[in-house]
Amino acid sequence: MPSPIVYRPMEPADAEAVSRLIAESFSEFIGPEYTEEGRAEFLRHVEPAALVERMRSNHLLLVAMAGEELAGVIDLRDNDHVSLLFVDTRHQRHGVARELLARALSIARPAKPGLDRVTVNSSRFGVPAYERLGFRQTGPERTVNGIVFIPMAHRLETEES
Ligand SMILES: CC(C)(COP(=O)(O)OP(=O)(O)OC[C@H]1O[C@@H](n2cnc3c(N)ncnc32)[C@H](O)[C@@H]1OP(=O)(O)O)[C@@H](O)C(=O)NCCC(=O)NCCS
Repeated sequence: MPSPIVYRPMEPADAEAVSRLIAESFSEFIGPEYTEEGRAEFLRHVEPAALVERMRSNHLLLVAMAGEELAGVIDLRDNDHVSLLFVDTRHQRHGVARELLARALSIARPAKPGLDRVTVNSSRFGVPAYERLGFRQTGPERTVNGIVFIPMAHRLETEES
């Protein structure tokens, strides 16, 4: 029977596994959209040391664990921007990304009163999933340093609205 998924904050000891999951998923689903320069830039951005540095700054990183195995990760910057959202292929389409986002937002909302909008720069591959998660495209696709992205935003209900 598959292990139930447990969600918790990322710890420095997770960095190697998180980096590996992201790099593998990126190479399969997103890398082909990028130039060589973009691929190298992205992979530098998710090296273990870079992830640990972000954990200690303005980024909230949560992981989804299936037993001892890493199933997914979310990185929310400044409580309002999804920097990374990756789910291992074997665990995709089971609600792991939805739950990671919900849990990150439940931490972000009290930390940022009045939070009414979360943004993401999605890969082309990610757009349909982000749409299902409530995001809408806010501008044209862009390419910066070989990285291709579609800006999207998700309006949140505020307590006043
Ligand atoms: C995008 C990604 C994070 C989704 O993770 P996931 O755990 O499979 O997503 P969930 O199961 O929580 O699904 C959330 C919603 O998106 C939909 N969805 C998920 N993947 C989808 C896909 N490839 N195409 C269309 N819809 C998709 C689901 O059906 C679900 O909608 P529903 O609840 O209304 O049925 C995962 O496919 C992934 O890691 N992809 C590679 C990396 C990537 O592109 N990340 C985002 C780039 S910034």
